[in-house]
Amino acid sequence: MSNRNSSVDEKRLSLRAVLGEDVVLTQADDMRRYCTDWHGDVTSGAVAVIRPRTTMDIQAAVRACGALGLAIVPQGGNTGLVLGATPDQPDHQVVLTLERMNRIRSIDSDDFSAVVEAGCVLAELKDAIAEKGMFFPLALGAQGSCRIGGNVSTNAGGINVLRYGMTRELVLGLEVVLPDGSVFDGLSTLRKDNRGLDLKQLFIGAEGTLGIITAVSVKLTPYPDHVATALLALGSLDNAITLYRRARRDCCDLMSAFEFMPPLALTLAQEAMPDLPIPLSPQYQAYVLMEISGSGLVDIDDLMQRFLEGVMADGLVVDGTIASSQTQARNLWLIREGMNEGQAKRGSHMRTDISVSLSQLASFVADAEAAVLGALPDCISVSYGHVGDGNVHLNVLPPAGLTPDERLDRIYEAKKVVNVVIDRYQGSISAEHGIGRLKRDDFDQRVSDTKRNLLVAIKKAIDPDLLFNPHCQINLDATFCKPA
Ligand code: FAD
Ligand code: LAC
Ligand code: ZN
Repeated sequence: MSNRNSSVDEKRLSLRAVLGEDVVLTQADDMRRYCTDWHGDVTSGAVAVIRPRTTMDIQAAVRACGALGLAIVPQGGNTGLVLGATPDQPDHQVVLTLERMNRIRSIDSDDFSAVVEAGCVLAELKDAIAEKGMFFPLALGAQGSCRIGGNVSTNAGGINVLRYGMTRELVLGLEVVLPDGSVFDGLSTLRKDNRGLDLKQLFIGAEGTLGIITAVSVKLTPYPDHVATALLALGSLDNAITLYRRARRDCCDLMSAFEFMPPLALTLAQEAMPDLPIPLSPQYQAYVLMEISGSGLVDIDDLMQRFLEGVMADGLVVDGTIASSQTQARNLWLIREGMNEGQAKRGSHMRTDISVSLSQLASFVADAEAAVLGALPDCISVSYGHVGDGNVHLNVLPPAGLTPDERLDRIYEAKKVVNVVIDRYQGSISAEHGIGRLKRDDFDQRVSDTKRNLLVAIKKAIDPDLLFNPHCQINLDATFCKPA
């Protein structure tokens, strides 16, 4: 058996001998997709990619990596947008993918709960639960690829947060492998349990820095078989927020999504999907994609109809369309999803994930976009997102024709400019995507000493050898941070 001082090749041989040839990838070509981020902006190598099938496999992998002094970067669907799931030290890190741990252990219709392995793809999990007449409300554009362990580790948000909460609110229990190879067995499905501290919360949103989540018990709801979806045009973001407040009041807590988009969204979606029907013209200042949904006896179509009649009569909504079939509803959602792809097609750009209080959202966007225009007149700001949660993705697209270095300069400058405005509004630089490696320094500059001390103390208590995702989320204090 090799040890911490062995060469990379010796460590690879050791991992293969202990964990099995089929579990350990070591060829650069095989490892590339696990070592490259979703946008393809950043790529690295790794000592190995480990593909366990069971919790026991993971325990063995953790112990073997510990003995070899190799840090582990856990990976789900690798759709994270902050460089948390890919390695940055090719000779000192392995990627551990949960992709083979994708079994549904149980679905309980009486308890409205399910127990699933961490590698289940979110969309597949939602489908399996829907087959039993229930609903798992987490919904995001990446759901065809992201995995539930990654969703829990990032405390993902998405489009249904305003009704069902962030992932944290959907988790009943967790099974987690700890850095010493032991298992935290917290896979309860109990709704109420006040026996001491709720330790599972430590691992939700920890981005793989404290444990490897191997299974999750989740909270389900009745399937909302009545859904009304409308794309609405408005005069401003301010009006969109007024509309949101009114919808909360008028729609009996049945509103399940309220997404804001600028007119450029329609163009970006069309660039990504040329055949996508766009039912409204891009002449308005603001667009809202709104969904009301429910199950059982409630008349959702009537509610949407009456709500829209009222807000159109008041001039709050100036144009709009209600989907009359599931295909039409899907096409409206594709505009929202396609705008991400459209931005990616225009090349590398500055992405943010900001929250401010709802009452300040419109003035924040106006101030931040004005600051970007002042500093970078050749760039375009695109602000969109989950405005009901006070969460806006204010992205900045550099113009075409720049060199990669020029694009990077614009991105860094835009980030500086926008961060100043976020701080002025006492907002968050990470509403839903997490910190990863991309925002670690920005986070570090803003975190209070007390919070940093607590974060470091927790890391030190659970992972004293910095085995799990050591460069993610927190800058560890020099006295604690051992060289990899
Ligand atoms: P990964 O990217 O693989 O990992 C994310 C982090 O979790 C990493 O730090 C990783 O080390 C850690 N991790 C992964 N699995 C485990 C595990 N089993 N145990 C311990 N640590 C683990 N996010 C939102 O919140 N809302 C959105 O609306 C949204 N929309 C998106 C749309 C698109 C098109 C894309 C590409 C991304 C979007 N995201 C969104 C970001 C991303 O999809 C989420 O952060 C998602 O939760 C990541 O899941 P994943 O399985 O891909 O995790
Ligand atoms: C979205 C991702 C970027 O909301 O969070 O589309
Ligand atoms: Zn989002």
